[in-house]
Amino acid sequence: MKRLGVVGCGVMGSGIAEVGAKGGCDVVVVDAFPDALTPAQVRMTASLSKAEAAGKLAEPVDVIMGRITFTSDMSALADREIVIEAIRETVEDKVALIARLDAVLTPEAIIATNTSSIPVAQIAAASTTPGRVLGTHFFNPVPVMPLVEVVPCLLTDDAVTDATHAFCAEVLGKKVIRAEDRSGFVVNAILVPYLLSAIRSLQNGVASRDDIDEGMVAGCGMPMGPLKLCDMIGLDTMLLVSQSLYAEHLEAAFAPPALLKRHVEAGLLGRKSGRGFYDYSK
Ligand code: CAA
Repeated sequence: MKRLGVVGCGVMGSGIAEVGAKGGCDVVVVDAFPDALTPAQVRMTASLSKAEAAGKLAEPVDVIMGRITFTSDMSALADREIVIEAIRETVEDKVALIARLDAVLTPEAIIATNTSSIPVAQIAAASTTPGRVLGTHFFNPVPVMPLVEVVPCLLTDDAVTDATHAFCAEVLGKKVIRAEDRSGFVVNAILVPYLLSAIRSLQNGVASRDDIDEGMVAGCGMPMGPLKLCDMIGLDTMLLVSQSLYAEHLEAAFAPPALLKRHVEAGLLGRKSGRGFYDYSK
């Protein structure tokens, strides 16, 4: 498969499109909000330029960017072999998108939903051809983090899972693990309680923000502190992921702490809004 579509050009969608173009795919990026397209283009160019400066690109940045088309027109996806959606992390949005994709794509085209925590069956069941729907969970920043979780649900055809696994490994160059269709899959079911626990520690006055982050970096060799990582993931995404995990598992470790909710209510969403647990305005 070399004709890739990406729906949603936020941080995750941009990263997936970048990796696809780097892997030689012809990529169509669709976002319903035309204003999101230019920032995505800028983000990808900056990211590729960083890779180029580190001697990690086999081709010039403009050649790779030349493989990507940016549009708000969903019908541009009509000839895609695989479409990966990376829109907002709510069942309602993703289910509505599946109906729109069903109307545009050929019946053979694969639909992969990049969800961090929504069980894939809920999304696949909304398709008129659910056998072509599965989950692909990429990690942020997508161009840097090697992993993809491939998540077939009860309705996914085996051939679709195998083809997507091969695409992620061979074309996108990712390390693939297969995960069961449960909220959080493998990695987030382990990672999210850790991140929420850091927020709870801050909320309960166990230690300062910097001491919590420095503690996990210097004490456990984490590449960045958990509160900084929450800011990078996006606190709105963290809240949605936590709610989805809690709804599925009903375990206190997944419940969103009040401090996370207050940040989101206040519009302090992390790096993307300029302030979260840290201030990025400068
Ligand atoms: N393509 C390829 N490589 C790139 C690149 C690109 N576009 N941009 C940067 N790189 C490379 C750099 O060359 C560098 O390589 P070396 O290590 O060989 O030097 C490496 O990537 C790191 O890049 P930077 O120097 O720019 O960044 P850094 O050293 O400050 O690290 C970080 C930043 C990668 C984010 C690091 O802090 C880290 O790994 N943090 C943890 C990230 C994490 O846990 N992500 C998962 C989030 S959870 C998630 O996503 C799931 C969910 O659903 C919520």
